[in-house]
Amino acid sequence: MAAVEEERFTRQKHDPGFPTNAIEFCLAEGGIVAEEVDAVCFYEEPLTKFDRIIDRHISYFPLSYGHFRQVPSRWFGEIFPLKRLLAQRLRFICPVYFFPHHLSHAAYAFFSSDFDEAAVLVVDAVGEDSSASWGVGRGCNVTLKEEMPYPHSLGMLYTTITALLGFKVMDGEGTIMGLSAYGEPVYVETIRHMAPCFDDGSIFLKPEYFAFDYSNRMMSGKMEDVLFRARRPQEPIEQKHCDLAASVQAFLEERLIAMAKYVREKTGHNKVCLGGGIALNSLFNGKLTGQKIFRKVFIPPAPGDSGCAVGSALLYYYKQEDAERTKTSCHASLGTEYSQREIDNFLNLKGIPHDNFPDDTLLETAAKALRQNKIVGWFQGRMEFGRRALGNRSILASPAKAGVREILNSQVKGRESFRPFGASVLEEKAKDFFQNPTSSPFMEKVFFVRPECRKRIPAVVHQDGTCRIHTVPESEDNLYRKLIDTFHRDTGLPLVLNTSFNLAGEPIVSNPREAYDCFAKSGMDLLVLGNSLIQKKTPL
Ligand SMILES: [Fe+2]
Repeated sequence: MAAVEEERFTRQKHDPGFPTNAIEFCLAEGGIVAEEVDAVCFYEEPLTKFDRIIDRHISYFPLSYGHFRQVPSRWFGEIFPLKRLLAQRLRFICPVYFFPHHLSHAAYAFFSSDFDEAAVLVVDAVGEDSSASWGVGRGCNVTLKEEMPYPHSLGMLYTTITALLGFKVMDGEGTIMGLSAYGEPVYVETIRHMAPCFDDGSIFLKPEYFAFDYSNRMMSGKMEDVLFRARRPQEPIEQKHCDLAASVQAFLEERLIAMAKYVREKTGHNKVCLGGGIALNSLFNGKLTGQKIFRKVFIPPAPGDSGCAVGSALLYYYKQEDAERTKTSCHASLGTEYSQREIDNFLNLKGIPHDNFPDDTLLETAAKALRQNKIVGWFQGRMEFGRRALGNRSILASPAKAGVREILNSQVKGRESFRPFGASVLEEKAKDFFQNPTSSPFMEKVFFVRPECRKRIPAVVHQDGTCRIHTVPESEDNLYRKLIDTFHRDTGLPLVLNTSFNLAGEPIVSNPREAYDCFAKSGMDLLVLGNSLIQKKTPL
């Protein structure tokens, strides 16, 4: 019924704080108060995790002293006294249940799918004390069978290279994926030397190269010796940086494909659900689909830790004696929503000139703006849960003009010029523009653009000839689908460039005010808020 990340309310990206606003929103959406809630579920077993943290701290003491001093405040301030805080701050009186982290990831992935049974593969940086797990989902049950123990972690390896390349850890990983298209994987064997590999896909991180247990720098001096000195954020990106990004991406894909083959063989299932932060790696997701190791690959809209919270609640729900598996079609429209009256009130109160149009005029006007290479802010319905904007809080542009990408990166999003943009495509037309695409309803997969089509849609073709796509099925009978339809009718292109409605370093906009502020201070030309249209610069 409702799911939202706290960052959308506090406007602090990846806000790790106590999610008071998100909880209050979900209660309000459910039409209940805290006293009516039967159970609160948390996606981690704190004691197991804390045990691992202490254990690693002792192993690296005294090197780890400075690093460890930062840890206790959150644990003693928020996690251990969780039940008391829930009671004090939000008046919850119910029990609090703690579920294993990877099991929660697995539950969210499997229960969000429409599979009766399937293999489940979870890979992230670290859960309590494991970094990858696989298992099986069947009916109301999800069971994990094997795990890769921390500190041997594909997620931590990828994040360490992200840090070495001068990007923010737990945030810049997507940037590395984009950068990888500009390089050659010449460092793969060097990475393999630091992280020896096994047939089941697992790895062993040699401790002399990794410092994430005792330093915020993540990598040791020895890693810099065998690769190169860590890039500082303000320093230019050189070819060697692109090559290292390409190498870690290739290494990750190779390992994950090996893991997938192992899981396929062990479980015998021909369907798989992916969970954990690695399932945000859309390049891998596309390749896994293309390799046909599994007949079907399902990735939910929020495979990272936000979805994990939903997973823990689903675990509790399906443990009830009378539980029956409910399979509703999975979607991401679970966040905030504003009525046209609320939008009008905001615009009138602020004195913002605007026009309100019926649907057909609105669609014609927005499609015309896209055709004229204008950049359109598109705000409709409920905000998406997860990192991808899927036509509810999106910035849109025509895919047909190469220069749009530069304008979007520099004048609208304020981010690096090499960052690619994805596309929302009419599902039934995807095969005309992309090679062997499958359904990708949450913009979770990357596919090659057909060579003969690349010149027609240059703004969404990445350096390596790929594009991350969001397939919009005919069954999605909403304004967004109709907008792509209208654009298709006028241009012959069944797709639009779609990027999330936010500026660099900020969370996706939640309400009309944030959308307008983002529009006003960026290079967007037009803003569509519900049925209201706000223009900037020259009239259409
Ligand atoms: Fe996780």
